[in-house]
Amino acid sequence: MSSFPQPHGAAAVRTGPSFGIDIGGSGMKAAPVDLATGQLTADRFRIDTPQPATPDQLASVVRELVEHHEWRGPVGVCMPSVVTHGIVRSAANIDDGWLGVNGEELFAESIGQPVHVVNDADAAGVAEMMWGAGRGRSGVVICLTFGTGIGSGMFVDGVLVPNTELGHLELDGHEAEQRAAASVRQRDSLDWKRWAYRVDRYLGHVVRLFSPELIILGGGASKRPDEWVDRLDPGCELAVADFANNAGIAGAAVLAPDLG
Ligand code: BGC
Repeated sequence: MSSFPQPHGAAAVRTGPSFGIDIGGSGMKAAPVDLATGQLTADRFRIDTPQPATPDQLASVVRELVEHHEWRGPVGVCMPSVVTHGIVRSAANIDDGWLGVNGEELFAESIGQPVHVVNDADAAGVAEMMWGAGRGRSGVVICLTFGTGIGSGMFVDGVLVPNTELGHLELDGHEAEQRAAASVRQRDSLDWKRWAYRVDRYLGHVVRLFSPELIILGGGASKRPDEWVDRLDPGCELAVADFANNAGIAGAAVLAPDLG
């Protein structure tokens, strides 16, 4: 199996029950997932992300999350990092001690089960492409998550291009996520209108660079679409994510190791 099973590639996609964990800058969330529908089959359990978010600290919270749900079996984990072959290559909102760490080995040791680790926005995008706002869509589709940072999952005819990191594009002389992440709205005390203006400028930049057919707006901010989505006009079709905050858990569960 490839490291990145594709939403439209049925052979590579797991079926049946699975388990996903979404590691974010502020919270770590987990739940079992029904892979026929992408729906969580039990209430998700959340623990604050320890600070500093070091590898050992996160590995022990991952164990707590799995034990809480009494889950036995492979686990998919997504985190706010570039991840290639299980190795964490960037650490924008977690501790720098992660750089170069094999997250798959670390978490597998901690829970005694096989683990696959991917980028959080890639996982969210996989969920939206399989069951949500991107279902059946071809061409270039970009799923952006607005939370602590800005994450991106890019798909070409349903095939994921992993680790695109479009939140770090430059916008007005700053990294885009420093101007337009959802957390910046609170940090800079912006009202929705002013924040939406920044998001719109960012989306316009993404549209000019990649000419997507569709941009899916996800992450925590997608729970309040009425506040900002109607203010956007970046010159491309927009859709609000169907899975909101659960997309990472669902997508990570699909990408859990398939032992079959
Ligand atoms: C990270 C990405 C991540 C995004 C959303 C960014 O700071 O670099 O890897 O997908 O935040 O969590």
